Amino acid sequence: MDERLKILAICGSPHKGNTYELLRVLKQSNPEIDFKILMLAELNLEDCMGCYSCINNGEESCPLRDDRDKIIEEMKNADGTIFASPTYARTISALMKKFVERTSFIAHRPVFFGKYAMALGTCAGFGADLTCKYLTENFTQYGFNFVPSVELMVTRKTENETNHNRTQATKAYEKLISAIRSKEKVEPSLNQLVYFNIFKSIAEWNKLKGWADYEFYQDKKDFYYSVKIPFLKNKIAKWVSGRVIKKMMANR
Ligand SMILES: Cc1cc2nc3c(=O)[nH]c(=O)nc-3n(C[C@H](O)[C@H](O)[C@H](O)COP(=O)(O)O)c2cc1C
Repeated sequence: MDERLKILAICGSPHKGNTYELLRVLKQSNPEIDFKILMLAELNLEDCMGCYSCINNGEESCPLRDDRDKIIEEMKNADGTIFASPTYARTISALMKKFVERTSFIAHRPVFFGKYAMALGTCAGFGADLTCKYLTENFTQYGFNFVPSVELMVTRKTENETNHNRTQATKAYEKLISAIRSKEKVEPSLNQLVYFNIFKSIAEWNKLKGWADYEFYQDKKDFYYSVKIPFLKNKIAKWVSGRVIKKMMANR
């Protein structure tokens, strides 16, 4: 059996530029780790058609035939995933957004609990923080435990800057590795609890047209898996989600 740690880096850059270069540095920094870089640009990802089949009827009913499932399988097989994207127009690249849309049914029915992740964002001036925030918030909803992200300005003007960026990226990567190795248990965040309550309510309302979500939430009470949640935290989550749900109900 292969005991090597498996890291998957999903790169949303359309070319092997600054973002890829940093991932290559991470790969080289720990040669004993099985580190795979997936360039979304080299895979076949169709545009989501907005038909809701994946959400309502289950992901297998998606009419598109592309590499979506292949990528999800790679994420399941990895111990940790790095979501990397350049900042284009103050957010993630269009390619990364396409990947998010193709997999967004996982936000409804998350499966990556116990898996670790990190966001890496590059920019030329400002916006890498927004890119990382988007990646972290979105993929946390898939179940991943995120370590702090790495947000880098890359101009390639000086050797100092290049070295600084490489050091920052490697430091963040080391944190990801150590979180995986220590199997750090992370208590569900308030946000995750709120989202759980909201998605569970959506599943209830849509049970006639959306059996996939309804089935998924049937045996889930306070969270996606059995975990002790502090009383007050749960109360606050129920209160916050209750307000959101009430607003959503009012618009139905
Ligand atoms: C279409 C486009 C939009 C961009 N928008 C931003 C931006 O909003 N903020 C910023 O700081 N840099 C922006 N940049 C610069 C890139 O984020 C930066 O050069 C990045 O490191 C490129 O990574 P890559 O080589 O992997 O594509 C943009 C670049 C392109 C091509």
